[in-house]
Amino acid sequence: MSVKPVTITITGAGGQIGYALLFRIASGALLGPDTPVRLHLLEIPQGVRAAEGAALELHDSAFPLLSHVDVYDDPAAAFRGANVALLVGARPRGPGMERGDLLAANGGIFGPQGEAINAGAADDVRVVVVGNPANTNALIASAHAPDVPDDRFTALTRLDHNRALAQLAPTVGTPVGEIRDVTIWGNHSATQFPDVAHAGLADGRSVPEALAERLGGREAATAWLDDVFIPRVAKRGAEIIEVRGSSSVASAANAAIEHVREEQLGTHRGWTSAAVVSRGEYGVPEGLVCSMPVTSRGDGHGYRIMEGLKFDARARARFEASVDELVAERDAVRALGVL
Ligand code: NAD
Ligand code: LMR
Repeated sequence: MSVKPVTITITGAGGQIGYALLFRIASGALLGPDTPVRLHLLEIPQGVRAAEGAALELHDSAFPLLSHVDVYDDPAAAFRGANVALLVGARPRGPGMERGDLLAANGGIFGPQGEAINAGAADDVRVVVVGNPANTNALIASAHAPDVPDDRFTALTRLDHNRALAQLAPTVGTPVGEIRDVTIWGNHSATQFPDVAHAGLADGRSVPEALAERLGGREAATAWLDDVFIPRVAKRGAEIIEVRGSSSVASAANAAIEHVREEQLGTHRGWTSAAVVSRGEYGVPEGLVCSMPVTSRGDGHGYRIMEGLKFDARARARFEASVDELVAERDAVRALGVL
């Protein structure tokens, strides 16, 4: 018996991250080698030709798992029947644009997309927002989809999580795959708090212990975390923009694929990081979309927050600063009438 394809809607599909996502999704990297996919590519009219070009190349790749590709410029049509939605297209910050302008412009995108998801997506739809400001865009989309449970909306901080692993590995002297339980707390922005206090290595040592051994004591380890690790991870997006001339693409697409794959199929070794709706965990105001440590059993319930982790005062202050920024973004979009 043939398996029904999973419908995946990708917005901003004619853009850079879109191009890096589509072929991997069609090859089975998102949902595994046994799940056929049907792709709905959403663009604004100016981006439709680029998405159509990508669709031609998808056809030419003859992916056995790819059942259909359709290109849309109408959100209602693009989200109809969607089981998974990756919201990538967003309004970038232009010259002279203030934070409020950016939030308002994105409200004009993510509000209508939330409405279209509410109206036509499949009952099991799960949505990840990649387009920035990702956490608040997820909040906006969710607020416009009152019939879809709010925990179906998440935002991407897996890229920050992966960046943290990549910075840690050479310093503790292990491959990235041997590090577990790193956490990104807060906003996908420079205020985020990459935290290794609970992280461990495959050989049983804790990451703080391994750092102290490698760097010559606890004080040196703390100085490296404060002065090198945290700022490097939190500002890596800006570093990539400076070096490449535009924001991260393939690493962002890879992170989005890992986020959705593990949400759908399960996390396997410890936890990962994702921005998820708060029910008040760790004192985060209810309803905010905030990055926290999460696991998934791959049972259709999505990500669950790992509770009960302890903070010291410095860690708590870092986390609270990022949560305060999320509250300010939420209040700004409320004041603009977008929420
Ligand atoms: P891009 O400019 O190459 O592509 C964006 C595409 O979105 C464009 O083709 C544009 O036409 C389309 N678009 C704009 N508004 C749309 C709408 N209303 N509906 C459908 N499509 C729309 O940008 P990119 O490099 O692909 O980046 C996309 C977004 O991802 C940006 O907001 C970027 O800041 C963000 N990003 C997030 C992370 C993360 O970790 N969360 C990492 C990297 C980039
Ligand atoms: C990233 O983390 O690479 C991006 O979110 C940066 C950006 O501002 O687009």
